[in-house]
Amino acid sequence: MNVPDERVVQGALADEDGTFEASLRPTALSEYVGQAAVCDNLTVAIEAARGRGDVLDHVLLAGPPGLGKTSLAYIVAKEMGVDIRCTAGPVLERAGDVAAILTNLERGDVLFIDEIHRLNRVVEEVLYPAMEDFQLDIIVGQGPTARTLKLELKPFTLIGATTRTGLLTSPLRDRFGAHFRLDFYDEDELCAILRRSASILNVPLDADGAREMARRSRGTPRIGNRLLRRVRDYAQVRADGKITAPVAADALSMLEVDARGFDKMDRAILLAIIEKFGGGPVGLDTLSAAVGEERDTIEDVYEPYLIKEGFLTRTPKGRVATDIALNHFGKLRSDLPGQPRLL
Ligand SMILES: Nc1ncnc2c1ncn2[C@@H]1O[C@H](COP(=O)(O)OP(=O)(O)OP(=O)(O)O)[C@@H](O)[C@H]1O
Ligand SMILES: [Mg+2]
Repeated sequence: MNVPDERVVQGALADEDGTFEASLRPTALSEYVGQAAVCDNLTVAIEAARGRGDVLDHVLLAGPPGLGKTSLAYIVAKEMGVDIRCTAGPVLERAGDVAAILTNLERGDVLFIDEIHRLNRVVEEVLYPAMEDFQLDIIVGQGPTARTLKLELKPFTLIGATTRTGLLTSPLRDRFGAHFRLDFYDEDELCAILRRSASILNVPLDADGAREMARRSRGTPRIGNRLLRRVRDYAQVRADGKITAPVAADALSMLEVDARGFDKMDRAILLAIIEKFGGGPVGLDTLSAAVGEERDTIEDVYEPYLIKEGFLTRTPKGRVATDIALNHFGKLRSDLPGQPRLL
């Protein structure tokens, strides 16, 4: 039998995900749900720049994965009426990579750099004069005969996206004129996003079904949209195709997404802290080894929502599970190993 290479299969899945995401991506600020403060500020900045015939200031977008940073970058370019070039921090390896992109930008174009905290030093240093004075400093030759050539660039807008502003060097962070932080979405906003996605995909989703799904989407549109695809399948096979609250609840339980929207890894993290480390504090590396997940993934993907929901806190000594987390799993602090017991 011809077994496809795992990477090929994963690639195909990623592509399918990509196409699916692209089809649901809002294309104008008016379609972009929530993040009101960010949208208001961007609207003013865009209108002002357009009114003056100016190029938009560099924008830094921060926030956990799947909250709409990439979508927002595309929208900004569209509203400014300019082209967008997309790349990512880890892809830009050499100074020449970024120089080639910069010299090809037209006036006002948007350069979107995803995961900008993962740029290497050399590339970052090319960006400083480019962002500040729209100039490239190119070194020609080697040793004592080396000279620096200055190359004028057409003014452009850099939009950087990062899951962690803390990892950005301050010279880079300071060169962005506008900093925005995207927050998790509330239930009403997620309902609106799910209903919009359902209508694009032609999936019958009623108000209660949308609410049930919104509650379990971890405050994240990407997760909501993904669950919608799975629940749609479930509704088609196990029900009459319509997503109601009971259908959504059954489907999500089957997908091991619990009533708070936590998935297997969320629960593994919380349960490890509670059961193996007496509720904490436990260091990130130890926790990472205990649950078999990369520390960066725990920090970027899982923790922010658990902290926001009050299940986890960060202390100087490590991560601690809160009473809300203990309640969620029906545990008492006095029952935990390593905690003082009441006689
Ligand atoms: N405000 C929003 N309104 C409607 N849909 C949204 C919104 N934000 C995000 N989405 C949906 O969520 C999906 C993921 O958004 P996007 O790719 O922009 O997230 P991201 O912040 O760039 O994530 P990552 O950090 O992983 O790159 C999009 O395809 C879009 O359908
Ligand atoms: Mg993105």
